[in-house]
Amino acid sequence: MEKYVVVGGRPLSGKVRIGGSKNSVLTLLPACLLAEDACNLYDVPNLSDVENMLQVLSTLGAAIKKNQNSLTVDAGRLQFETVPDRLARSMRASNLVLGPLLARLGHVRIPYPGGCLIGSRPMDQHIRGLRLMGAEFTDRYGCIEARAKKLKGAEICLDFPSVGATENLIMAATLAQGTTIIHNAAREPEIVELQNFLNAMGAKVKGAGSNTVRIEGVDRLGGAEQVVTPDRIEAGTYMVMALATKGQIFLENVIPEHLEAVTAKLREAGARIQEENGGLWIGSPRRLKPVDLKTMPYPGFPTDMQAQVMALMTLVKGTSIATETIFENRFQHVAELCRMGANIRLEGRTAIVQGVESLSGAYVEATDLRAGAALVTAALMAEGASIIGNIHYIDRGYDQFEQKLANLGAQIMRITS
Ligand code: EPZ
Repeated sequence: MEKYVVVGGRPLSGKVRIGGSKNSVLTLLPACLLAEDACNLYDVPNLSDVENMLQVLSTLGAAIKKNQNSLTVDAGRLQFETVPDRLARSMRASNLVLGPLLARLGHVRIPYPGGCLIGSRPMDQHIRGLRLMGAEFTDRYGCIEARAKKLKGAEICLDFPSVGATENLIMAATLAQGTTIIHNAAREPEIVELQNFLNAMGAKVKGAGSNTVRIEGVDRLGGAEQVVTPDRIEAGTYMVMALATKGQIFLENVIPEHLEAVTAKLREAGARIQEENGGLWIGSPRRLKPVDLKTMPYPGFPTDMQAQVMALMTLVKGTSIATETIFENRFQHVAELCRMGANIRLEGRTAIVQGVESLSGAYVEATDLRAGAALVTAALMAEGASIIGNIHYIDRGYDQFEQKLANLGAQIMRITS
């Protein structure tokens, strides 16, 4: 098992280039299944989740060519195949082949998807919407199986602006008979990017980024190409680590408006942040102020940044409160932060953080990818050395994590034990 050894106390400084968005790529790749010709994606991050998704697509008959951070996916000849259990369990995003395969083949079978330990993560919103479009579901032997001779357009109102359900339903609707309208749709930048990619294939999608998305079904989709949008969560994570180490860094390849809620919260804590030539500069104040945060669907404060900001707040004098409204179990990092000396109390979906004088290095374990990033953040602040286990979670979402941090001056090393 691989671990990180991190020695705290060094301020980060210098430049870091943000890579393509993991959560964008994980929907653009299944979208390639809709196209009868080859698609090209550029600035694709090297992540284990991307590797897993590529294995899912090749199991289904897609031809994949990968060259560094560029990808060609040719789904001209798809075959019905059950998504392998190991892949489905290791990555919840495997459920994003549901819509494309129903639209393209009229048949799909996927084991109940896994992901990380941040909650039950049901798929009722995906299934209800696809049923309204005419799909028939059976679930047995731990698999979801769906069939549809030809999906038809429907008017769907999501109970919750689920990112995955919005993505699955948009993709399914592109080849359905008639028009589909999705109300209470998720508004994340990844949805806008998916719309642009699908429209480049010849789809007719409008309204992504708003609560209502309208899709007019077409007969076929051709190839397209797309440069993947920068990863707003990777960017936010490095911004927090710069503040945690009282450093200052410049982030290249960032879209500031995708990060507005995070930037506003960090400014509230006292961070100095400037947009300059296509990037963001962030500098730490002498003393940070405590902040309260509540995770919300985009454009609210992202749940994927909750753990990292909580880690930052553990050394800020005063009381900070973090409320997690998106996932029911996204506080697994709290126990690990307390092992390093943090003072955090949980009350249901709220964590109360009392700033302490210092954290001490310890052996801690990541429980999901953002929790892993939070533990590295805490280790960069702590006195002495920390060992962080289960860093395979971090490899799911952060490309060249230790290399980028070491280039910024951090003392971090990957070891195999
Ligand atoms: C996407 O997950 C992201 N993953 C997550 O990022 C992110 O945290 C999440 O959106 C919220 O922004 C990818 O894009 C690959 P949801 P997704 O459907 O689509 C409940 C990371 O760290 N729900 O918006 O699975 C669900 O249980 C990862 O990069 C239902 O109840 O999120 C959860 O509580 C973690 N029924 C909430 O909605 C459903 O049918 C949000 O889920 C679907 C979801």
